[in-house]
Amino acid sequence: MNLVLMGLPGAGKGTQAEKIVEKYGIPHISTGDMFRAAIKEGTELGLEAKSFMDKGELVPDQVTIGIVRERLSKEDCNKGFLLDGFPRTVAQADALEDILSELDKKIDYVINIDVDQSILMERLTGRRICKNCGATYHLVFNPPAKADECDRCGGELYQRADDNAETVKNRLDVNIKQTKPLLDFYETKGYLRNIDGQQEISKVFTDLDALLGGLL
Ligand code: AP5
Ligand code: ZN
Repeated sequence: MNLVLMGLPGAGKGTQAEKIVEKYGIPHISTGDMFRAAIKEGTELGLEAKSFMDKGELVPDQVTIGIVRERLSKEDCNKGFLLDGFPRTVAQADALEDILSELDKKIDYVINIDVDQSILMERLTGRRICKNCGATYHLVFNPPAKADECDRCGGELYQRADDNAETVKNRLDVNIKQTKPLLDFYETKGYLRNIDGQQEISKVFTDLDALLGGLL
């Protein structure tokens, strides 16, 4: 099961990726998570990525492609993978084709979680994440049982540095511009599947699960 999960910021990629990975046991490869981990560790990669992420800009293609190439070459990807948030430009998509062809793999589906742009600001500014286990919540749409506390592990919830209104606006602008050519690219190749991301979280997963079940 070799999958790419696409969708604008806040479409629900991370939320659904968590469920797909739990059910199908494939590694979750999120470039955003990898950059955030590098920032936390204070590595050179982290320092470089931070300067772009803080502004809501894309990290340069060469840097991003490099980390994905390295990750996809790891042995656990032989049972499949779920790419989340990569590719985001046609140059990244071209590079992914080359990387997979070198590894003798191919994409099964590129799944686009489709949502109207107008709801994304509210989704992102209301998002909260567990410091301890990474579970994602929303103050209104998916609130934790106890305020500021993770249901799963009791960890403290925080807001991502790039989830403030100003940075969200730029992230949306940047991503909306890049998305259309990328969707066209994958539509032409026949990989693209659209899922309605404006339903309840559990219903979005039901649709995804029905699609993925067909691959088994
Ligand atoms: P990244 O971490 O990938 O962020 P993003 O694409 O902006 O996406 P998000 O993680 O914000 O949204 P999501 O779709 O995962 O939404 P979620 O499920 O959390 O990237 C961050 C940065 O890293 C980029 O800006 C860039 O700088 C850099 N970067 C990363 N990849 C790169 C690349 N390939 N190239 C260059 N730079 C790159 O849901 C959002 C909220 O909505 C949550 O609160 C959730 O609870 C709620 N929610 C989810 N689904 C629903 C639903 N169905 N109904 C109601 N609420 C819902
Ligand atoms: Zn937790």
